[in-house]
Amino acid sequence: MQFKTLLPAALAVAAVSAQSDNATAAGNLTSVLSSNSNLTALNTLLASYPAIAESLGNRTNITLFAPSNTALSTLNSSGLLAQAASVDGLIQSLLSYHVLDGMFYAENITTTPQFPHTSLNSSTYSNVTGGQVVECRLDGMTAEIISGLKSVANVTQANVNFTGGVIHVVDNVLMIPSNVSTTASAANLTAFLGLLNATALTSTVDGASDITIFAPSNSAFQDVASGLSNLTTADLTNITTYHVLNNSVLYSSMLSNSTVPTLGGGNLTITYENGTVFINSARVVNADILISGGVMHVIDSVLNPNATMARANDTEGAGAATAFSGASSETAVPFTSGIATATTTIEALVTSTTQVAVSYTPAASGAGAAGGSGSGSSSSSGIAAAPTGAIGAAALFGGAAFLANF
Ligand SMILES: *[C@@H]1O[C@H](CO)[C@@H](O)[C@H](O)[C@H]1NC(C)=O
Ligand SMILES: *[C@@H]1O[C@H](CO)[C@@H](O)[C@H](O)[C@H]1NC(C)=O
Ligand SMILES: *[C@@H]1O[C@H](CO)[C@@H](O)[C@H](O)[C@H]1NC(C)=O
Ligand SMILES: *[C@@H]1O[C@H](CO)[C@@H](O)[C@H](O)[C@H]1NC(C)=O
Ligand SMILES: *[C@@H]1O[C@H](CO)[C@@H](O)[C@H](O)[C@H]1NC(C)=O
Ligand SMILES: *[C@@H]1O[C@H](CO)[C@@H](O)[C@H](O)[C@H]1NC(C)=O
Ligand SMILES: *[C@@H]1O[C@H](CO)[C@@H](O)[C@H](O)[C@H]1NC(C)=O
Ligand SMILES: *[C@@H]1O[C@H](CO)[C@@H](O)[C@H](O)[C@H]1NC(C)=O
Ligand SMILES: *[C@@H]1O[C@H](CO)[C@@H](O)[C@H](O)[C@H]1NC(C)=O
Ligand SMILES: *[C@@H]1O[C@H](CO)[C@@H](O)[C@H](O)[C@H]1NC(C)=O
Ligand SMILES: *[C@@H]1O[C@H](CO)[C@@H](O)[C@H](O)[C@H]1NC(C)=O
Ligand SMILES: *[C@@H]1O[C@H](CO)[C@@H](O)[C@H](O)[C@H]1NC(C)=O
Repeated sequence: MQFKTLLPAALAVAAVSAQSDNATAAGNLTSVLSSNSNLTALNTLLASYPAIAESLGNRTNITLFAPSNTALSTLNSSGLLAQAASVDGLIQSLLSYHVLDGMFYAENITTTPQFPHTSLNSSTYSNVTGGQVVECRLDGMTAEIISGLKSVANVTQANVNFTGGVIHVVDNVLMIPSNVSTTASAANLTAFLGLLNATALTSTVDGASDITIFAPSNSAFQDVASGLSNLTTADLTNITTYHVLNNSVLYSSMLSNSTVPTLGGGNLTITYENGTVFINSARVVNADILISGGVMHVIDSVLNPNATMARANDTEGAGAATAFSGASSETAVPFTSGIATATTTIEALVTSTTQVAVSYTPAASGAGAAGGSGSGSSSSSGIAAAPTGAIGAAALFGGAAFLANF
């Protein structure tokens, strides 16, 4: 595609020309992009899509996360930009995922995570009412924009005004969240994937709108392996649908003390206690993994609709023992026969005992949440560095790969 030649040219120009950067000028989108030496590649990209550039330039009252030259050149040199361009509508969707309605200044990004809707509304790539979201949070001094597969982009230059709103330069292209199975594969949640397959629910959850999924980790399944081994498909279906909220997308900031109905009919009890969120007796160990239809949180125990205890105690796996009494652990991870095991891991998606304390992002204070921001929120160790190269690409093309099934 043309970007292969266009973008390097733009980058070369950026490198050699000593452009004067007029911080005080608030010109239109095109003039601001062309006068910022970090954004010449984006300007070039938009120039190849006049219709997209025009409609973006026509908008007012927006926030644009503008990928820097470095961000776009990384995507370009991996060949992914050209691949994206070959999928009808993908560049437009990708760019719309970088736009928020309303003015979201750097000052609006705080240590309590927020999940503003973007302009990504195409049902090919998102089934979140109001538009797919990004997670914005302040980590130390750095404003982070977190997208699919927990890919992290840092804001490297904030509050660049233009006539239509405000631009924040980011050092990574935001990744469109993928469907449940692509995301669960990347997180190596093979037992959960196997359970979805065994209950023929994979395509249902992959294409669903506005859902929240509580996905048990592999060790959670292992803990109760014997209790699951003799269940009928109907029993397994009841268990699976008990892990899904329908018509309700609960990001971590909304996981406050409450009782919520599941797709299967039974209720889940959400308890916030000392910086940890419990779903019945299971702990949330990795929160806010964005998916095309909503959000997924990893939990440390399998939930049982027939044994709905609220949180037990802080011991790893304690929830499982109470939910499936008498069940014992086995060395084999159940449901994984025939399910491909991840060959690479994305650190931010992997759940471990030590991550438990830091990965949960505290609920916003107010509305039923016991406690507010505080423990855990300032630690960066739960949010690993951005996935690079091929892994980030998997996120970007989760949607495209999904398309191929049509
Ligand atoms: C920057 O833009 C302002 C407002 O348009 C203008 O008055 C000023 O001369 C410009 N400065 C430079 C160095 O271009
Ligand atoms: C944007 O501003 C530049 C410089 O002022 C101008 O030449 C151009 O026509 C404007 N573009 C649009 C779409 O208004
Ligand atoms: C480009 O970004 C760097 C930080 O990454 C910043 O220091 C510099 O001022 C930016 N350049 C322009 C023209 O805004
Ligand atoms: C942009 O605005 C102009 C002027 O209002 C209008 O003629 C044009 O159709 C708009 N373009 C798009 C793509 O919305
Ligand atoms: C800008 O957008 C925000 C969010 O959609 C909205 O609340 C606000 O009223 C808008 N402001 C203007 C001036 O249109
Ligand atoms: C940003 O913060 C300001 C000041 O607190 C507030 O008025 C505005 O509504 C916030 N914007 C958004 C998009 O939340
Ligand atoms: C974002 O900033 C953090 C430090 O705050 C750094 O470790 C990380 O590598 C940066 N990410 C990217 C994509 O540059
Ligand atoms: C951008 O606009 C906001 C709101 O009008 C203003 O507070 C800020 O100083 C402006 N930024 C720059 C770099 O001029
Ligand atoms: C969104 O839902 C529609 C049907 O409701 C489905 O055809 C489409 O594949 C879904 N999109 C995604 C990204 O899951
Ligand atoms: C599962 O079924 C097998 C064979 O019917 C039986 O031997 C075993 O005890 C059962 N396990 C459990 C946990 O009920
Ligand atoms: C999914 O289940 C079907 C039967 O329902 C089976 O044929 C297929 O092999 C399973 N796929 C995987 C990856 O286990
Ligand atoms: C994925 O999970 C399986 C089973 O728990 C494990 O054996 C494997 O090492 C994991 N893969 C990675 C890359 O962590």
